[in-house]
Amino acid sequence: MAVILDGKELSKKIRGKLKEEVKELKEKVGRPPALAVVLVGNDVASEIYVRNKIKACGEVGIRSIEKRLPADISQEELNRVVKELNEDDTVDGIIVQLPLPEHLSCRKVINYISPEKDVDGFHPVNAGKCLLGLYDEGLMPCTPAGVMKFFEEYGIELQGKNAVMVGHSNIVGKPLANMLLNANATVSVCHIYTEDLAHYTRNADILCVATGVPYLIKADMVKEGAVVIDIGISRVNGKIVGDVDFERVKEKASAITPVPGGVGPMTITMLLFNTVKAFKMRMGY
Ligand code: GUN
Repeated sequence: MAVILDGKELSKKIRGKLKEEVKELKEKVGRPPALAVVLVGNDVASEIYVRNKIKACGEVGIRSIEKRLPADISQEELNRVVKELNEDDTVDGIIVQLPLPEHLSCRKVINYISPEKDVDGFHPVNAGKCLLGLYDEGLMPCTPAGVMKFFEEYGIELQGKNAVMVGHSNIVGKPLANMLLNANATVSVCHIYTEDLAHYTRNADILCVATGVPYLIKADMVKEGAVVIDIGISRVNGKIVGDVDFERVKEKASAITPVPGGVGPMTITMLLFNTVKAFKMRMGY
């Protein structure tokens, strides 16, 4: 029976420290760190994510600025909003909630955000720093950074281990594979075109899954004693489930993240962490 890696507890611990740090920084600088959240259109899931991000900011004392824009906004107008936020000295972090309406390019808008305010860690400058392991010099993407916090917190050794990343998105799979490699794991990256996925997963000491395919990973695909990190989230018959068959896999793994309550809370925690980090870097601390 596996140790359950508790994202709510770890989040509470990190957010508690951030709250204290925000209080101290506010006294020194004369204002708290500030995060601008840009929401285009009215996608229901995005509305919920944005609400949760703004609520989390309030809980640690970060000022949040919500910019709601109409679904039919042009790329030029959206870029103009980002430019204003880039130039606003009282704004430390900027995120544009994804997905965007189809006529807009998310790459164009992400590239337009100042790298030093890119608290999602999606800008090519930050992606490059992630590749090189220059974590202190940039802003790292929140979900992969949150996963790495689990390994740190629970003392899970990565060096020399077989790590398998299932999923190769720009937001999670690629940066997390990089971070595992930087920690000296032997990394395989599997994805939708991989032949015989189980061949790889069965050999994984560390198995990270971010595909959005509910219950993709079954117990017979997991090595005895593996550490399993489930980064998927789907709704099946009204229930929130991950990419891993949690109930059966937990009997085989040595440690596992639940869904919900695993990686999910850590993503927002790392957004708060990045906003405080961006503020400190901009203020020269
Ligand atoms: N949509 C889904 N995940 C994310 C995220 O991490 N950041 C942003 N901006 N949009 C998202």
